[in-house]
Amino acid sequence: MPKIFFAPDRRAIEADPDETLLKAAERHDIPLTRICGGRGRCSTCRVMIREGLDHCSPRTIAETAIAEKMAFPPEIRLSCQTHIRGSGDITLRRLVQDEADIEITSLFVNGPEWNIAGTEKFLFILFADIRGFTSLSEALLPYDVIHLLKRYFHRMNRIIENYGGFIDNYMGDGLMALFESEDPLAGAYGSVRAGIEMLKEVKERMAPYVAENWNREFKIGIGLHCGMVVAGTVGTKKDCKQTIIGDAVNLASRIESANKDLGTSFLISEKVYNLLKDRLQTGITAKIPIRGKAGEHNLYEVVGIS
Ligand code: FES
Repeated sequence: MPKIFFAPDRRAIEADPDETLLKAAERHDIPLTRICGGRGRCSTCRVMIREGLDHCSPRTIAETAIAEKMAFPPEIRLSCQTHIRGSGDITLRRLVQDEADIEITSLFVNGPEWNIAGTEKFLFILFADIRGFTSLSEALLPYDVIHLLKRYFHRMNRIIENYGGFIDNYMGDGLMALFESEDPLAGAYGSVRAGIEMLKEVKERMAPYVAENWNREFKIGIGLHCGMVVAGTVGTKKDCKQTIIGDAVNLASRIESANKDLGTSFLISEKVYNLLKDRLQTGITAKIPIRGKAGEHNLYEVVGIS
């Protein structure tokens, strides 16, 4: 009888050609998500066929409809619609592994509605970027790159929202989050805590996930600054988008980039540091020129906060 090898479970089971991959997995207690109950309507049972695509049955009508809608490449299959055929083995990876994977099928909704005319605001601006993402993405299949990014952004979004912020913009593998508070101390505390929790989440959840699935490292760098910006909406009625503009935004982005030179993960500006210095545990402090900015700037590595 042909075999099905499951990753990341590292299990092999015998496949009965009369049953779907989903049924075969269920018979052996391998957890495959099946929100629609195996009717080819939700796509949560999707798997990636790593080897042996030729030994899979052709797509059913239901699967074809989903695959076309979601632009799945040939190797992404719905396990509830796919049988093994012939005598060849297949190797597959479960793609929807937990609650986070299920949730990221719906997209992000963030942030307050800002005045169309534009207003001045004092905001905490946090930039985060994945280290070495170009080489990581070159080593992954396109589907995996997008899935990984969605998972990462989903997790970061949850933390940022927990601390009163929201993600205003995604730039490739980077994100910009904003924290607005009438009390600058509360804004500083919330945004620093969010940064610390983001690093913790990456270390404890994202990095092991990436290591297990792709045997690669996963790290991020974070930069935080605060200041007055102009917040408003741009674009036409159809594609209207919130945005912020100002020197503080550029500086926050450059602080994030400085992590690469200093070998740090989380840097804040002096302005943020001064608001919280009694509560912060810091590592490296550095006075560095920032590309595109006059003079030198004091940056502080955040290690913890009480
Ligand atoms: S379980 Fe819903 S599509 Fe397969």
